[in-house]
Amino acid sequence: MGLKIEALGIYLPKKVLTNFDLEKMVDTSDEWITTRTGIKERRIADTSETVSDMAVKSAISAMEEADITPEDIDAIIVATLSPENQFPSTACLVQEKLGIRKAFAFDISAACSGFLFGLEVGWSLIKAGRVRKVLLIGAEKISSIVNWKDRSTCVLFGDGSASAILSNSEDNSDILALKIYSDGSMWHLLYAPLCGHINMKGRELFKVAVRSMEEACREVMNIAGVSSEDIDLVVPHQANIRIINSLAEKLDIPKEKVFTNIHKYGNTSAASIPIALYEAFKEGKLKRGDIVLLTAMGGGLTWGATILRF
Ligand code: ACO
Repeated sequence: MGLKIEALGIYLPKKVLTNFDLEKMVDTSDEWITTRTGIKERRIADTSETVSDMAVKSAISAMEEADITPEDIDAIIVATLSPENQFPSTACLVQEKLGIRKAFAFDISAACSGFLFGLEVGWSLIKAGRVRKVLLIGAEKISSIVNWKDRSTCVLFGDGSASAILSNSEDNSDILALKIYSDGSMWHLLYAPLCGHINMKGRELFKVAVRSMEEACREVMNIAGVSSEDIDLVVPHQANIRIINSLAEKLDIPKEKVFTNIHKYGNTSAASIPIALYEAFKEGKLKRGDIVLLTAMGGGLTWGATILRF
């Protein structure tokens, strides 16, 4: 039996922070941010709103979509780089808020690749027959770890959450190939120390991001026996429009087949791919049965790609 992303749900905070708002906070311009990143605005969580609050809201929306109750969930995995506590995990807080008794819950720390790492773990658990339904959540309150005086990072990130319900597939939905990677020797290119801010070597990361995602995409296309023409939609991690365009060009995939919403939300790290998947599906750009390529790269460094029959 294959794996199915049975349903998706999202939650985005109401507050919108535009590039023009940022012009009043740091020495930057809408023109610089737009041309260098593709970002026009991002969402910022309320000070009282926690990562687990956002995770719970997207989880409820995914469970409604799947028409299941919290009792149906066997495992909760939260991918986040901005947890609200050192411990317990955000996943345990989500479990408590949703009143899920029988599930086990834990977090994944793989930065922007967190959703792909979560897919690997959730898929393995389901395939091994250990669990039936996994609630996989990407949730971030990056606004809480950004240095709002550092123009080189504060313009890039946003808050939000998205959830996916994973289960055995009863149709032809499946993961055709999935590869995740990490290389700790490059940790210093992107990190946040405990209780500290995000530090990033943007220019170096840019090059590694394009190269590593291209390699991962080629690897999964090879394993799945899928060519560029076979791919109906690419849903890449939304970090920078120039990274996305350059990757699409290298893979010889036309822009029309690449989903982007970075202009609205910036980089929401582990929440970025599932938010984009949700929107692509709602907008009719992603249909059941489509061949989809997902890819991400982030702090760790971590990266990966997967080919799904959605
Ligand atoms: N507004 C105006 N000027 C700025 C800003 C800003 N917000 N930020 C930096 N600058 C200046 C710099 O100071 C520099 O000025 P200088 O030439 O006088 O020194 C100039 O703009 C160019 O800076 P670069 O860093 O070289 O700009 P670049 O074109 O590389 O764009 C960016 C920076 C957008 C960060 C890009 O490098 C990038 O997207 N990198 C990859 C980010 C990424 O993929 N991260 C991984 C995922 S994130 C995760 O895992 C959490």
